[in-house]
Amino acid sequence: MFSEDEIRHHFPILDRKINGQPLVYLDNAATTQKPMEVLFASKHYYEAMNSNIHRGTHYLARLATEGFEKARKTVADHLNAASTDEIIFTSGTTDGINLVADVLALSGTIGAGDEILISTLEHHSNIVPWQMLCQRTGAELKVIPCDDDGVLDQEGFRALLNGRTKVLAIGWISNAFGTVHPVAEMTAAAKAAGVPYVLLDAAQATPHVKMDVQAVGADFVALSGHKVYANTGIGVLWGRADVLNALPPWRGGGEMIKEVTFAGTTYNDLPFKYEAGTPNIEGAIALEAALDFVNQIGVGEIAAHEHDLIQAAAAGLAEIPDVRLYGPADRAGALSFNIAGIHHYDLGTLLDQMGVAVRTGHHCCQPLMARFGISGTTRASFAVYNTLADVEIFVASVRKAVGMLR
Ligand code: ALA
Repeated sequence: MFSEDEIRHHFPILDRKINGQPLVYLDNAATTQKPMEVLFASKHYYEAMNSNIHRGTHYLARLATEGFEKARKTVADHLNAASTDEIIFTSGTTDGINLVADVLALSGTIGAGDEILISTLEHHSNIVPWQMLCQRTGAELKVIPCDDDGVLDQEGFRALLNGRTKVLAIGWISNAFGTVHPVAEMTAAAKAAGVPYVLLDAAQATPHVKMDVQAVGADFVALSGHKVYANTGIGVLWGRADVLNALPPWRGGGEMIKEVTFAGTTYNDLPFKYEAGTPNIEGAIALEAALDFVNQIGVGEIAAHEHDLIQAAAAGLAEIPDVRLYGPADRAGALSFNIAGIHHYDLGTLLDQMGVAVRTGHHCCQPLMARFGISGTTRASFAVYNTLADVEIFVASVRKAVGMLR
């Protein structure tokens, strides 16, 4: 059962005062706060389990290995992956996307004249790795347009699909505007057009959507632990086993090998083929604790709660003169806005003095900002522990700040 008070007690940082005010934390799209379960899992790992994994025969090595592999199973179940072989631990979404872009470049399956399709709403981490792939292979980057509500133009998308399209790489939910893209339909359209690889950037979707990687039909899904109440520095790349098996390895090192001689190396099976070096063992175990926490409440319940908050915040902001809200009416996670004549940075600074934490600026989406002719926005983004009281303080603080800046 969902009880706001109960949830908030799991997050010790929410008791902090900022500039003498109670903290209203609305920067969850940047990173979420961590519940006690996650803090405990991290501490317990170092106090009781710390060791390297897959290498030692001693007790602690076995304990750490079992903990790490149990975390992998929890992630696989959470995503409905067909097998734990498909769960690659990474340092985060950026790492996962770079892995895919690099191995596709190495694979020799992408060449001059091929096309990589992304969208106007992508985060830099789902733009730059593809630009780098294009530089290496001679492929061309194509961009799906969006309308003035920040919704992807589906006709424009279909018109861009052709026999040269080798990759479709899109976000699931826009970090800047909260737009939820119809990723299953877009994946199906891409596959029907013969696109070999579809990657979904699920950094923002992970906390707000019950993901089923088999149902959505993509080849790769990349996500970050810290957006879903776990630590920074841990992430997951899910990839279909047949696709990953056919691609070359990425980074070379320990763990990703079967046998090394000076004459050559044979590579390990999935998932280890893509996990060179000592991984973030504690982070994986903390991610398991975060997913257990989320699943105890239910991703659907969390999303419904956040939806109510975001609708209330949008309604409150819409009553302030000269406000422009970005994104469609049905947003998830994030609400971006500007107020005519007021710089987002000035607004964010005053909100901070009132204890309200938001993000201002381009949100790592400079091309999207350029599409809207702006340098940035103020963005409030929501999590399970936010309340209607937070929304009221946020809207009242924006009103007060506007009064001070005018
Ligand atoms: N991608 C994170 C954000 O949108 C950092 O704030």
